[in-house]
Amino acid sequence: MKAVITKKYGPPEVAMIQEIDKPVPKENEILVKVIAAPVTSGDARIRGLNVPFGFKFITKLMFGFKGPKKPVLGVVFSGIIEQVGDKVSGFSKGDAVFGSKEDFGCHAEYLVIKEKAAILHKPEKLSHDEAASIPFGAMTSLKYLRDFGKVKKGQKILINGASGALGIYAVQLAKYFGAEVTGVCSTSNVGLVKSVGADHVIDYKTTDFTKNGDTYDIIYDTVGKLDFSKCRDSLNSKGVLLLAAAGIKEYGQVLSTSFSGAKKVVAGVVLFKKEDLKAVAELIEQDHIKPVIGQTFELSEIVEAYKHVDGGHKVGSAVLKV
Ligand SMILES: NC(=O)c1ccc[n+]([C@@H]2O[C@H](COP(=O)([O-])OP(=O)(O)OC[C@H]3O[C@@H](n4cnc5c(N)ncnc54)[C@H](OP(=O)(O)O)[C@@H]3O)[C@@H](O)[C@H]2O)c1
Repeated sequence: MKAVITKKYGPPEVAMIQEIDKPVPKENEILVKVIAAPVTSGDARIRGLNVPFGFKFITKLMFGFKGPKKPVLGVVFSGIIEQVGDKVSGFSKGDAVFGSKEDFGCHAEYLVIKEKAAILHKPEKLSHDEAASIPFGAMTSLKYLRDFGKVKKGQKILINGASGALGIYAVQLAKYFGAEVTGVCSTSNVGLVKSVGADHVIDYKTTDFTKNGDTYDIIYDTVGKLDFSKCRDSLNSKGVLLLAAAGIKEYGQVLSTSFSGAKKVVAGVVLFKKEDLKAVAELIEQDHIKPVIGQTFELSEIVEAYKHVDGGHKVGSAVLKV
């Protein structure tokens, strides 16, 4: 089968299409023919070893010293089941499924995934491209808003980077939780962020929200551009700064603010669990979450796709048509 192979860390060009053996499912695994798989900011970070300050060594320890130990990246997919192991009971050959594979392997024509992992039947109303575009951003932002930030009805929340993969689903989730949502994005994405439900939109090209005197219960930075010292005055007295991309300094702030009853910094690593995919699938069924795809690429355009993602300005998801 064809797969995108990344044997060493580096620029987009290190990702190459190669023929490798098709995986064989074990008794508790499912073989999926992949139809669509996004190139996520997570894939780009691992491929380029472009991780927040202080995390290079631990990333190499986890993922491989010279290059990714698992050379097929890609953590999200949508596709059709080709074969199921003997002990798989909830899925059958031919089922349309979508999900997330924490241990990578989605940028390939076929993948195997355990039945108990984050795999579900694809919502019928979504195409494969659409289904693949949602889990990465939606599951991460669900964890951040529901569990880390404990967002409540009526709270004021600001989402920095509201048009990216995490941000565009964060806006929709925060609205679902009943918050008053302010999205921050660049000029060209103002209309999009409004269209997915933001009550207010701030164009960061013209306005610095930290200087306009407004305050929020939660500020969720999906970009990695905000500093606690810079936006402390924009938080209410018990406000929380959620950081999706945090380095050593920011984790120090997480620790130091955790002991006080006042403003806090919260960050963490999100693992993609089946329960969270179920929660996201229910919100899709109820029309609380809609897919946003900025651009699609053929598998053969993987280098262009990575360049697009590395640019840091993608809209929603960049989806590979496998
Ligand atoms: N903690 C975790 O477990 C976890 C999980 C997943 C992802 N992440 C991290 O979350 C981050 C975001 O991921 P993503 O997939 O959402 O990225 P993305 O899709 O590339 O989105 C980045 C967004 O940042 C915006 N942006 C760029 N410069 C900005 C600025 N100066 N001010 C405000 N917005 C700006 C861009 O909007 P414009 O085009 O409008 O500028 C774009 O919408 C990545 O660093 C990723 O590693 C963390």
